[in-house]
Amino acid sequence: MFDPSVYAARRKALLDRIGRGVVVLPSVPLATRNSDVEHAHRQHSDVYYLSGFDEPDAVLVLSNVHAEHQAVLFVRPKNREREIWDGFRHGVEGAVGTFGVDAAFPVSELEQRLPDYLEGAGRLHHELGEHTEFDGQVLRALHLVRMRCRRDGRTTPTEIVSTQVSIHEMRLVKQEAELALMRRANAITTEGHLAAMRVSRPGRFEYEVEAELLRAFRGGGAERPAYDSIVGSGPNATVLPYRRNDRQMQDGDLLLIDAGCEFGYYAADVTRTFPVNGTFSPAQRDLYEVVLAAQDACIAAVKPGATMDGVHQVAVRVLTEGMIRVGLLQGSVDAAIESGSYREFYMHRTSHWLGMDVHDVGSTFLAGAPRPFAPGHVLTIEPGLYVALDAAVDERFRGIGIRIEDDVAVTLDGHENLTTVPKTVADVEAAVRAGG
Ligand code: GLY
Ligand code: MN
Ligand code: MN
Repeated sequence: MFDPSVYAARRKALLDRIGRGVVVLPSVPLATRNSDVEHAHRQHSDVYYLSGFDEPDAVLVLSNVHAEHQAVLFVRPKNREREIWDGFRHGVEGAVGTFGVDAAFPVSELEQRLPDYLEGAGRLHHELGEHTEFDGQVLRALHLVRMRCRRDGRTTPTEIVSTQVSIHEMRLVKQEAELALMRRANAITTEGHLAAMRVSRPGRFEYEVEAELLRAFRGGGAERPAYDSIVGSGPNATVLPYRRNDRQMQDGDLLLIDAGCEFGYYAADVTRTFPVNGTFSPAQRDLYEVVLAAQDACIAAVKPGATMDGVHQVAVRVLTEGMIRVGLLQGSVDAAIESGSYREFYMHRTSHWLGMDVHDVGSTFLAGAPRPFAPGHVLTIEPGLYVALDAAVDERFRGIGIRIEDDVAVTLDGHENLTTVPKTVADVEAAVRAGG
């Protein structure tokens, strides 16, 4: 059952935070795929976070100035004919009755009504540049209300402020109900990865594995994958954003799967790498153990006060030590870190925030310095090693790509790993062999 009180509490917290302001948040415009076919709609995360309303063509206006109209939704009105073609609409009545806003109007009335909501506000909170057509509408309303009010001295917004400093700061700190959704997204994602491990074997195609992931995600009640699943076997595992997923897997390949579902608008983002025949080769195993040791060390470092930058430095150090030990790099650890030579095999960052967006909102810096973790922050830990086919290293390492990625929440005194997919060598091999 939909509970509007969660969203009302967030709106109140936002309005308490911003003083005499007005917030204007449009939904994501529908994108044409081709001719009259559209890409699937997903509500803008900010709009969903503050309303739970998931229809397109909506605008949420929040105000501290208009006491009777603190939360207003502009929506597509009920329309029997259109609903036959486009599906159910809550309409103006449902926006108020179900979603608990103070007032609702047809979205066609936005142009006429928006100036009224801007009147009296000191600041306008709006993300300029994200949706330029809508920016035009907001700026026209601002101009109109300024013209109108300069005659009698009423206040109009003198500043336009990014939602980064208000809504995104709130979204960065996950409440218990949000963490529960993220645990659920991870539990479904685990089912997907386990199913993927079971069906993987030499001769199968990457897309057959992708299909298992999707079946588990949708079958588990997830709305959609949180991002396009990466299913890269053999050398494809060294292509960071590999998405073709169309190669036939060979005996002796590793398979890298980076896939997570979205449940209740919250993302899981999980990577596992495993041998499709159920047994790591000695070279694969050597590199895998290096990546796993780096990941374990990074996760152990997550606690209040630590930083993403600090965690990345842990990853770089443990990976570089391992690369020197197995012979991918020569010389001293400090020299390899200093010169950046490790970047030939580890070229990305170790973490990003995770939440409603897979690369979630929230600054990683505060006043120019790395931001200290606080309880409720959720981040990924995803070290990897990628050896190009033509790398000037021992042949047995060439074409190996490995990444291990978990989702970790910062708690009062440490962390909670939300991800539950097996990852030790023995557990991964057992999970693949369980497919027979
Ligand atoms: N799946 C995207 C990422 O790991 O950042
Ligand atoms: Mn990922
Ligand atoms: Mn990630």
